[in-house]
Amino acid sequence: MRRHSVIAGTGSALPVRCVTNAELAQRVDTSDEWIVERTGIRQRHIAGQGETTATLAADAARAAIKASGLAPTDIGLIVLATATPDNTFPATATKVQALLGIPDCIAFDVAAVCSGFLYALGVADSMLRVGAARHALVIGAETMSRILDWEDRSTCVLFGDGAGAVVLSASEAGDGRGILATQLHADGRHGPMLYVDGGPSTTQTVGHLRMQGREVFRHAVTNLSAVMGEVLAEAGLEPGDIDWVVPHQANARIIDATARKLGLPAERIVLTVDRHANTSAASVPLALDEAVRDGRIQRGQLVVLEAMGGGFTWGASLVRM
Ligand code: UT7
Repeated sequence: MRRHSVIAGTGSALPVRCVTNAELAQRVDTSDEWIVERTGIRQRHIAGQGETTATLAADAARAAIKASGLAPTDIGLIVLATATPDNTFPATATKVQALLGIPDCIAFDVAAVCSGFLYALGVADSMLRVGAARHALVIGAETMSRILDWEDRSTCVLFGDGAGAVVLSASEAGDGRGILATQLHADGRHGPMLYVDGGPSTTQTVGHLRMQGREVFRHAVTNLSAVMGEVLAEAGLEPGDIDWVVPHQANARIIDATARKLGLPAERIVLTVDRHANTSAASVPLALDEAVRDGRIQRGQLVVLEAMGGGFTWGASLVRM
């Protein structure tokens, strides 16, 4: 059996503070009714003092390591996806490494915004298959609240903070488990539709998130349904074989429309957008961990992970749990 990567444990972490739509409606001209109807979002978690992308990531990572039955020192690789690093450098992954007490491993960040976790999973999977490490931590972690323009009602109601992690382990077992297919894409021509208007090399500021929501919506449904079809085709499987879809949690209407295009019933979709909002790179691993811990996702089941975000970047991964 060729070496492949298996998800050995999942974990997640959310900031303590939870902010409802009603609370936001006191700050900007919006309403609970508008936000729920257009997005499905009812609340989001917002990082407070002392909570950063690295601390949330480390909490999620600890939970994933515990679930895998390994020790932090077994980890040889940390790939952390984020658009909101603690600092411009060093990589937040190295901060997580220090927080976990791992004296030496490979550690770096991946920047692919909302599809960052899919990119990180693809990179870690490739590295495990060529023997760069035996066990990897793949993390999606964000503090989106720190790059939002809190005066802009068209964006500030949509995002939240959090982190999710998986332990990915190399395996030679012939039990059919593991990452079966991965497809990743980018089309940089669409950069101006979803971007941050600052950065070290341009404005020397952190900047704020800007988005043409309607355009992003349209591309999301098309790209996500296409990329899910691609991973199924790569593995020689059909939509009817899928037990669970764990989608990027940007908008319940995007999730519904994408599922409908593939003929997937709502009962097979993991939905957390109502409680987490869009946590960018954290959204897929947060939703995955929730569904693993509450017993919906079982060992041996076929799961599709998918996401699309700034760049544009998008991707999907087909995993036998
Ligand atoms: O993570 C991946 C990237 N992100 C996404 O996938 C998000 C993709 N886009 C979306 O989810 C949706 O396009 C939004 C939720 C952002 C917007 O929903 P929409 O149905 O596309 O609304 P819209 O942009 O067409 O705006 C409709 C109206 C506008 O008013 P007018 O011009 O029709 O008078 C907006 O000004 O809603 C107004 N509006 C709001 N009203 C109340 C925009 N934001 C708000 C708000 N509260 N927060």
